[in-house]
Amino acid sequence: MERICLILLFITERDISVYCGVQTITLKINFCPVLFSGYTDTDLALNGRHGDAHCRGFINNNTFPTVVLFSISLNTLESCGNNLVVSTAQGMNAYGNLSLVQIGNISGYIDTPDPPTIISYLPGLLYKFSCSYPLEYLVNNTQLAS
Ligand SMILES: *[C@@H]1O[C@H](CO)[C@@H](O)[C@H](O)[C@H]1NC(C)=O
Ligand SMILES: *[C@@H]1O[C@H](CO)[C@@H](O)[C@H](O)[C@H]1NC(C)=O
Ligand SMILES: *[C@@H]1O[C@H](CO)[C@@H](O)[C@H](O)[C@H]1NC(C)=O
Ligand SMILES: *[C@@H]1O[C@H](CO)[C@@H](O)[C@H](O)[C@H]1NC(C)=O
Repeated sequence: MERICLILLFITERDISVYCGVQTITLKINFCPVLFSGYTDTDLALNGRHGDAHCRGFINNNTFPTVVLFSISLNTLESCGNNLVVSTAQGMNAYGNLSLVQIGNISGYIDTPDPPTIISYLPGLLYKFSCSYPLEYLVNNTQLAS
């Protein structure tokens, strides 16, 4: 792992990849920059929910580069404090016609915990993400309180 990370240190890449999927939002965070910042995979959690095991990611070292994976199911969107903002925009409706449609924008962040002591030499990490879906699609696929 250390050796893989040393090689990767010289490759600049986006540190977070966001896949807005049909059933889940998948977030992949490059593990090596996390490690080199002095953190481990278990220090990363969704929306500051560091005490909640199910809001933390899991490491996948079958991929290259190694990533910390977060999977957010659309039907449990709000369980780790993700934000949903509804807006109106021009787009395709369910019939394929261009019209005003309501868009649900899901957003959140992944960060490292606040330092346990007042003086910390570790800079905190923060990764933001967002995905937009037609609201009708989200309503059909989630148990949003309405
Ligand atoms: C990577 O995979 C190996 C073999 O499956 C495992 O032993 C190791 O703990 C994993 N590394 C991390 C950092 O999880
Ligand atoms: C969509 O557009 C078609 C062709 O312009 C029209 O016939 C149809 O009524 C439209 N449907 C809706 C729901 O607006
Ligand atoms: C969704 O919300 C995020 C966070 O507020 C924002 O950065 C992003 O631009 C929004 N996306 C759209 C398509 O409105
Ligand atoms: C949502 O569900 C309704 C009723 O089941 C269906 O008519 C509609 O096509 C669905 N819309 C989308 C975008 O899946």
